[in-house]
Amino acid sequence: MSDFKHPYSRPRRLRSSDAVRKMVAESHLSADDFIAPLFVMEGDGKKEEIASMPDYYRFTLDLLMEEVEEIQSLGIQSVLLFAKVPDEKKDNEGTEALNPDGLMQQTVRAIKKNFPNLVVMTDVALDPYSSYGHDGVVKEGEIINDESAELLAKMAVSHAEAGADFVAPSDMMDGRILLMREALEEAGFPNTGIMAYSAKYASSYYGPFRDALDSAPGFGDKKTYQMDPANVKEAVKEAIIDQQEGADIVMVKPGLPYLDVLRAVKEAVQIPVSVYNVSGEYAMIKAAAANGWLNEEEAMLEALIGFKRAGADLIATYFAKDAARLL
Ligand code: PBG
Repeated sequence: MSDFKHPYSRPRRLRSSDAVRKMVAESHLSADDFIAPLFVMEGDGKKEEIASMPDYYRFTLDLLMEEVEEIQSLGIQSVLLFAKVPDEKKDNEGTEALNPDGLMQQTVRAIKKNFPNLVVMTDVALDPYSSYGHDGVVKEGEIINDESAELLAKMAVSHAEAGADFVAPSDMMDGRILLMREALEEAGFPNTGIMAYSAKYASSYYGPFRDALDSAPGFGDKKTYQMDPANVKEAVKEAIIDQQEGADIVMVKPGLPYLDVLRAVKEAVQIPVSVYNVSGEYAMIKAAAANGWLNEEEAMLEALIGFKRAGADLIATYFAKDAARLL
């Protein structure tokens, strides 16, 4: 027992005013932390709100340029592109993904032309292009690893040719980072980076995203390639493999239910770690706020600072613009 009459240590001193709290804050958010995901669709002059993602839109390329301008003016450094592919262009091998004049390639070229300083990242996966809605080639009901990885490497080169700064493979095939790195070097793109979705879980939180791209799997689920939510060692292993295979940035996805994974990966690798605050996490906050059950701004900022505290260097988030505006 202490002989002192009063508590010696009063942690509340460091919470006593806004200025003191700011002075001692351990984590900070800035617009530089954010990667803004963007959905592009074919056509002209249209933007469509995604039903399960209130206030988030798919844009045709012309209108996307205004959106990108706004993103850049808010101090955000990077965008992550996803293309919505019409059903008639989908097949098992994702042939359209390699079209040099495909929507993704056109979008990359247009953004780099108009906003040369913006970091353009592209999603590399077959699901938006696949008639089965899977991230790889399907044979007899199975997702074939090596053939899919070869295709993904070609897709990465195609995005690099269009001018992508980083390719972001989100497929979870084994060995694809090495193949992709080799293919990029061979094709003369030593400076195109790879942000690997290293620990991507088989998650129900991707639901709204699959609405946005109409990319839900046609049969089965993604559990033979995306990770089991019960595991963390496997995430560390995946991140270390991807770092060794040449990834420049590794990612953990989803975000909020996996903050422990984010911390473990951060401690295991020597490269930046990003986290994806996915569509279902966005939808939850939006839905609760729409009902008056949560304060949207506060809940959003609390989630985002949570990622920083857990070790994220970068955050891909549908809240990028809203948060940047508040900072
Ligand atoms: C596609 C891909 C998905 C997401 C990003 N890339 C969906 C999936 O794997 O089914 C999800 C992003 C989100 O939910 O915000 N490979």
